[in-house]
Amino acid sequence: MKEILDAILASDTTAADFAALPIPESYRAVTIHKDEADMFAGVPSRDKDPRKSLHLEDVPVPELGPGEALVAVMASSVNYNSVWTSIFEPVSTFGFLERYGKLSPLTARHDLPYHVIGSDLAGVVLRTGPGVNKWKPGDEVVAHCLSVELESADGHNDTMLDPEQRIWGFETNFGGLAEIALVKSNQLMPKPDHLTWEEAAAPGLVNSTAYRQLVSRNGAGMKQGDNVLIWGASGGLGSYATQFALAGGANPICVVSSPQKAGICRSMGAEAIIDRNAEDYRFWKDEHTQDPREWKRFGKRIRELTDGEDVDIVFEHPGRETFGASVYVTRKGGTIVTCASTSGYNHEYDNRYLWMSLKRIVGSHFANYREAWEANRLIAKGKIHPTLSKTYRLDETGQAAYDVHRNLHQGKVGVLALAPQEGMGVRDRELRDKHLPAINRFRNV
Ligand SMILES: NC(=O)c1ccc[n+]([C@@H]2O[C@H](COP(=O)([O-])OP(=O)(O)OC[C@H]3O[C@@H](n4cnc5c(N)ncnc54)[C@H](OP(=O)(O)O)[C@@H]3O)[C@@H](O)[C@H]2O)c1
Repeated sequence: MKEILDAILASDTTAADFAALPIPESYRAVTIHKDEADMFAGVPSRDKDPRKSLHLEDVPVPELGPGEALVAVMASSVNYNSVWTSIFEPVSTFGFLERYGKLSPLTARHDLPYHVIGSDLAGVVLRTGPGVNKWKPGDEVVAHCLSVELESADGHNDTMLDPEQRIWGFETNFGGLAEIALVKSNQLMPKPDHLTWEEAAAPGLVNSTAYRQLVSRNGAGMKQGDNVLIWGASGGLGSYATQFALAGGANPICVVSSPQKAGICRSMGAEAIIDRNAEDYRFWKDEHTQDPREWKRFGKRIRELTDGEDVDIVFEHPGRETFGASVYVTRKGGTIVTCASTSGYNHEYDNRYLWMSLKRIVGSHFANYREAWEANRLIAKGKIHPTLSKTYRLDETGQAAYDVHRNLHQGKVGVLALAPQEGMGVRDRELRDKHLPAINRFRNV
């Protein structure tokens, strides 16, 4: 592995040099173990501790197949799906690997007693499989996390609709929280030149998801002037949704849970901010009963911030706890676009407010290659910035996932894989210097 790292750190390594590097037999990876899938049985979700289930260990390098690439991972990041995997909720990810493994002899490689997790990476291509022409050893890349087979016609308008669509590093093995990752070559995108490895690895999953959910025609199709209610506006998804709203001429109404988080949203340029803790919204009277008076109080607060207007789009992901309020506060003809259910997936809302006011609920999930590419392009051009707040070492991934599970983090949490320290990998200093305050916005909070 040292030889690989030396080649990446040297400035004069050619593609041929990279291609000639020997691939090690094993690599260090963050894993969960199949025989521990019941380790948290009976423990409340909140108390399930990723530090107990996530391991750092040596695993064999997988065989490289057609259309695939082996990538030396310099940095990765923790997403909420790393939390779901590590607490085995809502289901153990080994079920995904078993099902995928049944598809073909090649996919059978993924069905193992351990799962290498992680759905983001920034690094360098080491080897490409047969049929890969666009990428070569030595290319500096990031990877988006859409894995598709595309053998069916269904996925050929929008690859997210492929029946064999999976999230790499969550529903497939050999993910990015490791020194080496296996990806399909159509997951690769150019690494933004002005960013460090850890900054480049941070946006991937959430930035692409927020792009489809909010901007793309497949999601809410946001337009100039739209009022956009963004839950968790300084979190992983929300910190990108807020930037897309601002950059696209919309008006974000940012919901957060502390003055500190409100401050970050303000520093991004948002003006309408609601601190849900300070204003103490209680949308549920008890586990089974919602309180429409609280929806109304929330709606009134939004109108105070928008000169009396209602929201065109709600950027939803908390799910059960907020969904009733989200449907209520959306304007007539508006859109509630949802990609998750962090607080529970059995949503309840008053359907009269939906049908009588001709609102739409749109489901959105990750992004197709084109959407991920467009989202990455905006990062590369310095129009949208990474929201990295803190970076951990690979052996601290359990702690990083714990922080995200407990909502102790801001924006995105990075993880160094092969990169020996933060701050490396910048190729365009001029563009970086131009945007440095924005790139570091989440760092010192
Ligand atoms: N379908 C997809 O493709 C996709 C992609 C990415 C993420 N996701 C899912 O989306 C969810 C959020 O991901 P993320 O990366 O943004 O996580 P995150 O970094 O933890 O941010 C989510 C934010 O939502 C707010 N929040 C959490 N629970 C809430 C509640 N009960 N009521 C109101 N606000 C709440 C919190 O902000 P405040 O405390 O400041 O309010 C939190 O910081 C996760 O469930 C994740 O698995 C889905």
